[in-house]
Amino acid sequence: MRTQVAIIGAGPSGLLLGALLHKAGIDAVILERQSAEYVLGRIRAGILEQVAVDLLDEVGAGSRMHQEGLVHGGIELLFDGKRHRIDLNHLTGGKNVMVYGQTEVTRDLIEARRALGLPTVYEARNVAVHGFDTTHPSVTYEKDGKTHEIQCDFIAGCDGFHGVCRASVPRGAITEYEKVYPFGWLGLLSDTPPVADELIYINSPRGFGLCSQRSKTRSRYYLQVPLTDKVEQWSDEAFWAELRLRLDEEGREKLVTGPSLEKSIAPLRSFVTEPLRFGRMFLAGDAGHIVPPTGAKGLNLAATDVKYLSQALIEYYVEKSQAGIDGYSQRCLARIWKAERFSWWFTSLMHRFPDDGGINAKFQSAELDYVLRSEAAARTVAENYVGLPLDFND
Ligand code: APR
Ligand code: PHB
Repeated sequence: MRTQVAIIGAGPSGLLLGALLHKAGIDAVILERQSAEYVLGRIRAGILEQVAVDLLDEVGAGSRMHQEGLVHGGIELLFDGKRHRIDLNHLTGGKNVMVYGQTEVTRDLIEARRALGLPTVYEARNVAVHGFDTTHPSVTYEKDGKTHEIQCDFIAGCDGFHGVCRASVPRGAITEYEKVYPFGWLGLLSDTPPVADELIYINSPRGFGLCSQRSKTRSRYYLQVPLTDKVEQWSDEAFWAELRLRLDEEGREKLVTGPSLEKSIAPLRSFVTEPLRFGRMFLAGDAGHIVPPTGAKGLNLAATDVKYLSQALIEYYVEKSQAGIDGYSQRCLARIWKAERFSWWFTSLMHRFPDDGGINAKFQSAELDYVLRSEAAARTVAENYVGLPLDFND
């Protein structure tokens, strides 16, 4: 079989790239290791920047997001039992974020792809990438006991942090930058109304907490927990009791609890691969970089990667120019590092760091005081939270 672009991974990056290429008349096949049901079972963050909203609209997959998503113009930071609102809308001259779960984004992209009859091979086993340093790359995989081969012009590695594409690059050709944080996030999803209209990021002496939401009737909460904790140790009751302890008086009164629909622990990591292009193979999304979830930049970065990658490929096929391909890595990385910096900064501001003698809590109080007293500092937070403009690095 032959296609122009073989996309590995049917997460948001792969699906969005497939949709953008299709719109431009470029053929692509997506290979996904899991089933669609499995992919849709993963619960991830739920904040979309305008850039991601626009891309979903561009590929015609945005209608449910506009109906069901919630537009938020601010966030709350809860420190020492007091809430402080960051007015995103005012500070950025009218920008907002969209609260809409990544699982729903993935579902909408899957539906759009199905409706167009575009090829996705689910449960493709042992995917392997070949010859990406030549002009004739190919991909092999197994399905239903048979080995298949796809000849292609380019390979798009949209296969997440544990994917095969980055792992196939010779070690000497790649540099990886990594910071692992000494705690994880325990998340709980429940069909209960959110405790507040806007998200509350909590810095409490007991650790970080986050009150997020998926709709007016579905909430998503997180607690900072030690990396050694196992999800089985956390009953729903224990989760709600701990969240109450980290909330303020108003939050404790308004919190509605209920059975969890999902509960999981995720480690926090900052990770960037350089470069993101290896001959005719490109990395996009979590395959090339990971942010800690504070600020929910992961999906938004993935969206800009694939926007830039689709533009580069369109330039190659339509304008017969290599310039976009040659500039892909640098263009993405300039944006990625700024989001990495912000996610690291926001993580550092909001979490309790074990065994530091209390110095971080002092830095945090000073930083918060600065953000609250200086409009310039608050604007810095706001413009990063809503997402830097696309032309910021151009
Ligand atoms: N072969 C085929 N598919 C693979 C392979 C493989 N060897 N390895 C991984 N995959 C698939 C995974 O099963 C997954 O469905 O690639 C997909 C990658 O999807 P994601 O992990 O969701 O990554 P991405 O699409 O880049 O989305 C980025 O996810 O983690 C969040 O915060 C992140 O929101 C961001 C988004
Ligand atoms: C979420 O809703 O899951 C979420 C929201 C904001 C974050 C992280 C996660 O910063």
